[in-house]
Amino acid sequence: MLSDFDKVLDRTNTNCEKWDNLVEVFGRDDVVPLWVADMDFASPPEVVAALSERVQHPTYGYTFVSQSLRKAAVGWVSRRYGWDIRPEWIVITPGVVPGLAMSVLAYTQPGDGVIVQSPVYPPFFRVVESNGRRLLNNELKMGPDGRYGIDWGDFQAKLDGGARLVLLCSPANPVGRVWTDEELTRLAGMCGSRDVIVVSDEIHCDIVYSGARHIPFGSLGEGAAHRSLTFMAPSKTFNVQGLTTSMAIVPSEQLRERLIHVQLGLGMAESNVFGLAALEAAYRQGDAWLDRALEYLEGNLRYLEDFTASRLSPITVVPAEGMYVVWLDCRGLGLGADALRDFLANRARVGLNDGRMFGPGGEGFARINIGCSRAVLREGLERIEAALRQLR
Ligand SMILES: Cc1ncc(COP(=O)(O)O)c(C=O)c1O
Repeated sequence: MLSDFDKVLDRTNTNCEKWDNLVEVFGRDDVVPLWVADMDFASPPEVVAALSERVQHPTYGYTFVSQSLRKAAVGWVSRRYGWDIRPEWIVITPGVVPGLAMSVLAYTQPGDGVIVQSPVYPPFFRVVESNGRRLLNNELKMGPDGRYGIDWGDFQAKLDGGARLVLLCSPANPVGRVWTDEELTRLAGMCGSRDVIVVSDEIHCDIVYSGARHIPFGSLGEGAAHRSLTFMAPSKTFNVQGLTTSMAIVPSEQLRERLIHVQLGLGMAESNVFGLAALEAAYRQGDAWLDRALEYLEGNLRYLEDFTASRLSPITVVPAEGMYVVWLDCRGLGLGADALRDFLANRARVGLNDGRMFGPGGEGFARINIGCSRAVLREGLERIEAALRQLR
């Protein structure tokens, strides 16, 4: 039976980055776009209804973060993660990336070391380097089972080298990991003993597949809670990225005040009236829709895994425990990085993210987005299969 998610929604001519910006990015307009991290699905009807209702009132002036919104967010975090946060811990930011940048400004000084773990979402590098902080890259390592893990010896060395802050990507985009309790607890302990703050970007946390469980960093215990910020957002989960609204959960009053101080200093304290409406509706009413979306996405993931294993050799799928962006290991093709990019865009005519954009460790990889109808995914994979046949 076809589900709502099978419906191919035409997103062209909506100023949609994924579908309308292909020539700029791939040099041609006929690639199947499986790149930028949003989904081709309609947002939940409850979110669309809340936005429509707000649009109906024809004034769009200044807004504020209501207690009712805080309550909705508290409920979401409690229902989905069993973490009881207080309404006042929430700081609304105009997106997670601005929140990461504000955190770097709030908790470090120019020249201070900030740990990131490549391959990782590119703004992690930018918010450190553009602000004159020292990038300490603790590169993630692929284990014999193809799963990535943390190089703990190197992590300790980076802490010893004077790191003041860690930008943690949890789950880890693009490598597919949903960090375990053991890993997070170990990281929290190591950072705690050096009084290093952890800023945990959990924007993808709601998209986790069977067998994995997301644990918010701030829920690990008192110590971790008071030395960390946990960023969450409805954006990836409910396809409202363009509304640029997210939240930092900051249990420590001192850290919260510093964040707000920087936010005010940058003049970024105002919120988006539609972003807030969407966040509240999604967190209050989005559970059932998300559960259905997760089922569909997991079906797409299994489809991708089966297709790749049987028809796209030597390309392999790096085990994905969460997220609709999935890391493909293309090193077996033996192509140089430029040749791989050319192969995917010009021979296969698929638009994937070039692994190199995720920093050291990304060469020879590509990131595919499975947040689309299965028919679109199938088309993309069949194109890669046909191009591979010509290569052989
Ligand atoms: C790990 C991660 N953080 C942040 C973002 C973007 O956050 P925002 O649009 O809220 O700034 C993305 C988008 O792909 C992401 O993958």
